[in-house]
Amino acid sequence: MRQGRPSRWPLAGLALGLVVVGARAAPGAPSAAPPDAPALPGGGLQAWRPAPPAGLGLSAADCGTCHRQKHAAWSASQHAGAWSDPAFQASWRPWPNGWCLNCHLPLAAQQVEVLGGEAIPGALHTAARSGGALAAEGVSCAVCHVRDGALVSAGAPSRLARAAHPIAADPALSGAELCAACHQFPFQNHTPRHPFGLSDAPLQDTVAEWRGSAAAVAGVGCADCHMPRGAHGFPGGHDLPALRRALSVEVRPDGPSTVAVRLQSQGVGHKLPTGDPFRRLTVQLCAHRLRSTSDPCEDVVGEAIFRKTFEGTERAWAVLEDLTVPAPVEGSVAERTLNVPVRAPALGWSLRIDWLDPATTQALPPEAVGAVLEVGAVEAPRDASPRDDPPVGR
Ligand code: HEC
Ligand code: HEC
Ligand code: HEC
Ligand code: HEC
Ligand code: HEC
Repeated sequence: MRQGRPSRWPLAGLALGLVVVGARAAPGAPSAAPPDAPALPGGGLQAWRPAPPAGLGLSAADCGTCHRQKHAAWSASQHAGAWSDPAFQASWRPWPNGWCLNCHLPLAAQQVEVLGGEAIPGALHTAARSGGALAAEGVSCAVCHVRDGALVSAGAPSRLARAAHPIAADPALSGAELCAACHQFPFQNHTPRHPFGLSDAPLQDTVAEWRGSAAAVAGVGCADCHMPRGAHGFPGGHDLPALRRALSVEVRPDGPSTVAVRLQSQGVGHKLPTGDPFRRLTVQLCAHRLRSTSDPCEDVVGEAIFRKTFEGTERAWAVLEDLTVPAPVEGSVAERTLNVPVRAPALGWSLRIDWLDPATTQALPPEAVGAVLEVGAVEAPRDASPRDDPPVGR
């Protein structure tokens, strides 16, 4: 199996004229925005620049003075850490492409704190500072809730809400389009004539995966699963209890030196893993039993990795192999089985999630890189007579 390295910054792009800009040199508006840019900036081509609503600033802290619960839940979410998070910083600092910031630090006002101007897709913002109070808020309330100087709410605003601040209804708020502006986008594509462009190959494909799923057909959208009862914690791949509920594993010998590893997802509206291309779920097969998730696999005899691999040059990218658990297209359960070679009999297994590009994780604590979700015992082969070898439960 060839292992495609889904580099976010195809190196050849360098030779094709990526611009290096210092903080002072960053001009106002990015020139890469196509004339037919969608109402919401997609693909990270533009910064988001809502005018602040009358009487309120753009800061989440302002909203938090009244919306305490929403603010507390959002503060603990990946959205709030989208810029300040050490995992993002570790991958961005070595190659500080302005493109990344339009999703991870989306407000133009936040970018000014960090760059002195707005992010330019394709440009290397080598003099970026860490920024102030606005930048520390990452994907903040105003990104989703402020349009043209007014607050927006998914339904008709209550009287209480109208009394508190100017606010209008925008049903688009609870649709997938809002999420798609950042959760659906292609690889970069650099050509001599266009030093920064986007290709046709999806880098994150979550919204397209959802469109073909049973959930989408049943009218269950991103917010229904990720914002139950309006909650703002946005649980996802970093929510270990939620992942444990969504996944189950079955491991069984499938021949003299092969083991079948079946991973099942439940109640998911897209592939798993989805989103960032470095994300992967690994079932390690061990020569011994494991008692708990903190028990290390001392003798790894084989491995099943559920992920996508990519390959490409600066011109064209493609998925080489897609070994993720597919989105359920009927009912709520989907599964993928990988048959993996083992160099010795396997007795135990562990399932772990890894979030990041291994090349960026050296300086990070292990808990920022990934986590073991579950351990179990390898079951008896299907044809084993129960009298010879009773199946081992997990
Ligand atoms: C990533 C986008 C996003 C961010 C960031 C966000 N919201 Fe929301 N918010 C939504 C969506 C979508 C809804 C509608 C949810 C639904 O349809 O159930 C919503 C609903 C609400 C509601 C309506 C009441 C309710 O219980 O449903 C309030 C109040 C609110 N948000 C406040 C905030 C505040 C305050 C912040 C920042 C601390 C914030 N939001 C950050 C997307 C966001
Ligand atoms: C002075 C207090 C105050 C501030 C500051 C404030 N809000 Fe509100 N907001 C309210 C009250 C009160 C309501 C109505 C009750 C509720 O939904 O919590 C409300 C309702 C809302 C709603 C839901 C509309 C509805 O019909 O219930 C949204 C969305 C919202 N606010 C977003 C924001 C955002 C985003 C900010 C920051 C830019 C913000 N609010 C700042 C007091 C405030
Ligand atoms: C302005 C861009 C933007 C928008 C709009 C946006 N997101 Fe996100 N979202 C991000 C970024 C960036 C991250 C990753 C932050 C990090 O970890 O560095 C993220 C992370 C998440 C995660 C957590 C993933 C994990 O691995 O834990 C979930 C779930 C999520 N978003 C759901 C949504 C939903 C649902 C919507 C629409 C209501 C939405 N997002 C809208 C940019 C956005
Ligand atoms: C039927 C429910 C459902 C729907 C619909 C759904 N998701 Fe998810 N999503 C999940 C579950 C379950 C997980 C696994 C982890 C968790 O629950 O926290 C997940 C994980 C994620 C992650 C983490 C990525 C990873 O693999 O680590 C992101 C990002 C995400 N969803 C975004 C979205 C977006 C954007 C949409 C809409 C296009 C959406 N989801 C629709 C249930 C759903
Ligand atoms: C079009 C929007 C967009 C652009 C552009 C973008 N990202 Fe992201 N990024 C996201 C979203 C959405 C997620 C969350 C997906 C998930 O949870 O799987 C994410 C997740 C990540 C994560 C994982 C964070 C974690 O803690 O798990 C890293 C690291 C990251 N991005 C770095 C970058 C870098 C570096 C660039 C530029 C080369 C970049 N991103 C460009 C939207 C974007």
